[in-house]
Amino acid sequence: MADTIQQQLDAIEQDALAQVEQAGDAALLEAVRVRFLGKKGELTAILRGFGALSADERPAAGKRVNATKQRVHDAIARREASVAEAVRAARLSGHQLDVTLPSFGSPAGHIHPLAAMTREICDTLGALGFSIADGPEIEDDYHNFEALNIPPEHPARDMQDTFFIEDGLLLRTHTSPVQIRVMQEVQPPLMIIAPGAVYRIDDDNTHSPMFHQVEGLMVDEGINFAHLKYVLTTFLRETFGPDSPVRFRPSYFPFTEPSAEVDIGCVICGGKGRSETGNCRVCKGTGWLEILGAGMVDPAVFEHVGYDSERYSGFAFGVGVERIAMLKYGISDIRLFFANDQRFLEQF
Ligand code: DAH
Repeated sequence: MADTIQQQLDAIEQDALAQVEQAGDAALLEAVRVRFLGKKGELTAILRGFGALSADERPAAGKRVNATKQRVHDAIARREASVAEAVRAARLSGHQLDVTLPSFGSPAGHIHPLAAMTREICDTLGALGFSIADGPEIEDDYHNFEALNIPPEHPARDMQDTFFIEDGLLLRTHTSPVQIRVMQEVQPPLMIIAPGAVYRIDDDNTHSPMFHQVEGLMVDEGINFAHLKYVLTTFLRETFGPDSPVRFRPSYFPFTEPSAEVDIGCVICGGKGRSETGNCRVCKGTGWLEILGAGMVDPAVFEHVGYDSERYSGFAFGVGVERIAMLKYGISDIRLFFANDQRFLEQF
């Protein structure tokens, strides 16, 4: 009886080893393992034949079955390793990697067009003697409105659709509050510019809820409109070219008196007001583009900061950074600045 079992074992082992050799991938090997070593496998089934063995014969027969199982198991493991190695070798030989090739390199980052424009504006004005001042973007009503001669019911508040926060706080609607903060801190003479972000509830292709301004303020004894005119004309000709026409138009701001809006000759139609197809769309046929607001500081503002308006006078101006950049580079949609589209940004 024991001999019969040994013969069966030998036959199964031979069969198993042959199948292991033929199995060419991991899935086939697994099938072989299940077939011979699994719970319902052939080597497990053979234990059922033990019923015919005497009690003396059983331990030895059991050992043989286990030894056979072990050999089949080891053969599968060896074959698995060599199949895996073959797969790896095939993959490597199909994949040539030349480590001496130059790399693709990573594109160099650069300054955002608005940051570059702000720097350019500040450099031009810096060369005229202005130094940079800073103020908070979260402002209080007093600095953003009240001290700039815009009392609570003043209609000028409507022009600046304000993001209110709470407890009298708001997102500053212009950089003009920096004028107040500076004058609260220092005595004249002073010449400052204040670049920064401002916020208004406004959103179309020429308005963004967040945009940038540069504020200017010069205060001393004897400052008059001629100083204002010289500084702004010089600034605009540095920015748009030495021959750029500049004109000053009477206007109104609560914090300046007299006030002016300053125009440059239209950069699109060259001041003619007409294009080949009709009226110039950018200047709407006028030949002029409004570029900034300015004026002589209103004595009421000086009163708020404790300056003697009999002794001191000054001028102020405010310019939109996006507006200057759009005109200078012929950009028709302000939202392009904030969309972070590489194709746009890479042009600068
Ligand atoms: N703060 C004004 C605005 O945002 C711009 C402005 C106009 C600023 C006249 C000034 C100024 O300093 O004098 O619309």
